[in-house]
Amino acid sequence: MKAILSADLNWGIGCGGKLLQRVPEDMRFFMNMTSGKVVVMGRETFESLPGMQPLKDRVNIVLSTKAQFSDDRLIICRSIDELFKVLSKYDTNDIFVIGGESVYTSLLPYCSEVYVTRLEKAFEADRHFPDIDVLKNWKLVTESDQHFYKDLSFRFLSYANSLVISV
Ligand SMILES: NC(=O)c1ccc[n+]([C@@H]2O[C@H](COP(=O)([O-])OP(=O)(O)OC[C@H]3O[C@@H](n4cnc5c(N)ncnc54)[C@H](OP(=O)(O)O)[C@@H]3O)[C@@H](O)[C@H]2O)c1
Repeated sequence: MKAILSADLNWGIGCGGKLLQRVPEDMRFFMNMTSGKVVVMGRETFESLPGMQPLKDRVNIVLSTKAQFSDDRLIICRSIDELFKVLSKYDTNDIFVIGGESVYTSLLPYCSEVYVTRLEKAFEADRHFPDIDVLKNWKLVTESDQHFYKDLSFRFLSYANSLVISV
């Protein structure tokens, strides 16, 4: 499986239940990468989606111990074990972990790749992604040129994991 996220200079990913910054080009990248695939998210991230609606054209899996969502477009998993049973039906290359902090942290060891839209600014943040620049098994493999949204610069990065734990 893979993870996809946007992070600031301090690996901040969210604040007050929201993204740090909505960047249209990043949203398009996320849409292109995950369309037709399986997305795995925590309950908080699901609740932060526009209108609390599942993402279109994707299999939406939500981790939650207690939520009672009655939407048949959602697959709810009550634990990582249950999640892995559900994920065994899909090609691992088609599975994207899309947040938030708690789910990224739990599933990072199982990810082979991470796609990071790195915002070149330090925002106020209360949720973070692990700093994979200091994790020995993670290596930066691609880095785009600088892109801009208004006065915010950002780059599209990808990292690879040399020590993936298989599900
Ligand atoms: N920058 C980005 O790319 C990005 C992407 C996604 C999210 N975010 C941000 O991240 C923040 C949300 O992150 P978060 O860490 O607070 O929340 P989260 O990871 O989205 O959701 C946490 C919830 O997921 C459920 N959960 C997590 N692990 C579980 C497990 N092993 N078994 C069962 N349920 C489990 C629990 O729900 P229950 O309490 O219902 O049990 C838990 O309270 C927001 O600010 C959001 O905007 C940023």
